[in-house]
Amino acid sequence: MKALENGAKVIANDMDIRHLEHLEDAASKLGYSELETLAAEFPHEMGFPAKSFRKILISRVLHFFSGEQIKASLQQVYDWLEPNGELYVVCETTFLTNWLSFIPEYEKRKAAGVEFSGEIDNPKHWEKSWSDNLPEFVHWLDKDSLSVLFEKAGFEIVEVDYINRKGQFPDSLLLDGRESVGIIGRRRD
Ligand SMILES: C[S@@+](CC[C@H](N)C(=O)[O-])C[C@H]1O[C@@H](n2cnc3c(N)ncnc32)[C@H](O)[C@@H]1O
Repeated sequence: MKALENGAKVIANDMDIRHLEHLEDAASKLGYSELETLAAEFPHEMGFPAKSFRKILISRVLHFFSGEQIKASLQQVYDWLEPNGELYVVCETTFLTNWLSFIPEYEKRKAAGVEFSGEIDNPKHWEKSWSDNLPEFVHWLDKDSLSVLFEKAGFEIVEVDYINRKGQFPDSLLLDGRESVGIIGRRRD
């Protein structure tokens, strides 16, 4: 919505059409006409030409992908960006009160050099209150893991930081201001 407000031409994707319908309604109420929606599974159901986007935002989706799927997706997105184009990614972390039990396991895996320390095949084992709403696999990320993934895909990192979700997530879930993580990468050539 902010991009539309700023005059950008936007292609919005989700594999669940209901989210796109909601966006279309909201955009049309505000008179924004430069919105195209695409119901498809990212990235393999999309066939954009190389170098066709100035900016791409992947918001709260990549934490449902394995590390290998994230690697392949970032390579694909790199190709879709114009030279100097930017990729913005927002993901969830394990730093929430309902994931407290996983944090020691996460830190242990990180210390042991496990490549994707936040991959979780059995969310219900770790999280008892909200996991009925989660898929069978999640992948919590942090500043380090996202930075490595971006660098491996060839991006120059413009900015990476945690996102404090106070006022956005329920207060009972807030831990220490690291509830989400955001990163901006720039295509080099
Ligand atoms: C946590 S919601 C985030 C929704 C929205 N992007 C936002 O930031 O508010 C996760 C969304 O990712 C979508 N999703 C998950 N995997 C996807 C994929 N491979 N391709 C497209 N959408 C996907 C789901 O349908 C769901 O709407």
